[in-house]
Amino acid sequence: MVKKVSAAVFPVAGRGTRFLPATKASPKEMLPIVDKPLIQFAVEEAIEAGARKLVFVTGASKRAIEDHFDTDAELEDALMASGKDRILETIRGIVPDGVTCIYIRQGQPLGLGHAVLCARPAVGSEPFFVHLADDLIAGSPGCLKQMAGEYERHGGSVVAVETVPPEHTSSYGIVAVDGDSRVTEIVEKPAPEDAPSNSAVVGRYLLTGDIFDKLETTGRGAGGEIQLTDAIAAQLDDSAVYAYSFDGTRYDCGSKLGYLKATVAFGLEHPETGAAFRQHLGSVVE
Ligand code: UTP
Repeated sequence: MVKKVSAAVFPVAGRGTRFLPATKASPKEMLPIVDKPLIQFAVEEAIEAGARKLVFVTGASKRAIEDHFDTDAELEDALMASGKDRILETIRGIVPDGVTCIYIRQGQPLGLGHAVLCARPAVGSEPFFVHLADDLIAGSPGCLKQMAGEYERHGGSVVAVETVPPEHTSSYGIVAVDGDSRVTEIVEKPAPEDAPSNSAVVGRYLLTGDIFDKLETTGRGAGGEIQLTDAIAAQLDDSAVYAYSFDGTRYDCGSKLGYLKATVAFGLEHPETGAAFRQHLGSVVE
C-alpha cells in the first residue's frame, strides 16, 4: 500500500528571463491566462490530486504570490458591500479550508534541483508532487491526479512525459524506458544526436522522499545549475522511476508563443469571452 501524496512543491524562484520585461518586478507565475494566474491553475491541479500542504519555493520579486494566496479582508469587504457575491466566492475559494501554504526562500537561483531541495524541511520524507506552473496542462482529470493514480498502481517516482520533435530534445530532460514504462536512463538537455529518445519530461513530477538525499550530493550540471534530472538519474540505481504519458494538452507558458496559444485556447472556452472571442478571432485571421 503506497502512502498518499499530500504535499506539493511549486518552484517559483526562477528569473523568467524569457518573459522580460514583464517579469522584472512581477513573477512569471502570476501571468494570467484570461483572468487566472498560472500559479492558481497549478494550485487547483495539486488540490484536485489530493495535496493539502502547498510549498512554494520563492525568490526575488515573488511577494505577489504570497499576497495572492493570502486573505484580503479589505477586498472581501469591498466586494460584499458592492454586492459582487460571485467574485467574492471565487476570491474566498482560492485556498480551500484544510489547505496550508508554506513559503520557503531559495537564496540564489541555483537551479530546479536546488529549489526542490529547499523544500525538504517542509516536505519531510513523504512522497510529494513537484509542479512547474509555467507548464500549463489542460486535462480532465488534471495531470497530477492522473499521476497519483499511476503511483497508486505501482509506487515509485513518476515523471510526466510528452513526445517532442527530435530537434527539441536540448530543451528538456529526456528519458529512455523499458517495456513497463520504467525509466532506464534520463539525461538533461541532450543534443538530438545524444538523446536516448524524444520522450521529454514536462513540468510534473511525483517523487519519493529518497530524492532529497540524491539532491544533497548532486553537483552542478547542464547550464551550471543543480538539475533535478541529475538527481532522478541517481535515483534510478536504487528505486523505480516511471514515465507517464499524460492525457491532456500542454502549453509551455514560459515561452511567448506557448503563452499566447494558452490564452487563445482558454479565451475560446471561457464562459464570459468564448463566443465573442471566437467571432473576433475569425475576423482577424481572415
Ligand atoms: P526555467 O528553466 O523555466 O527558468 O525554470 P526560469 O528562470 O523560470 O525562466 P527563463 O528560462 O529564465 O525564462 C523551470 C522552473 O524551475 C524554477 C522556475 O521558477 C520554473 O518554475 N526554478 C528554476 C527555481 O525555482 N529555481 C531555480 O533556481 C531555477
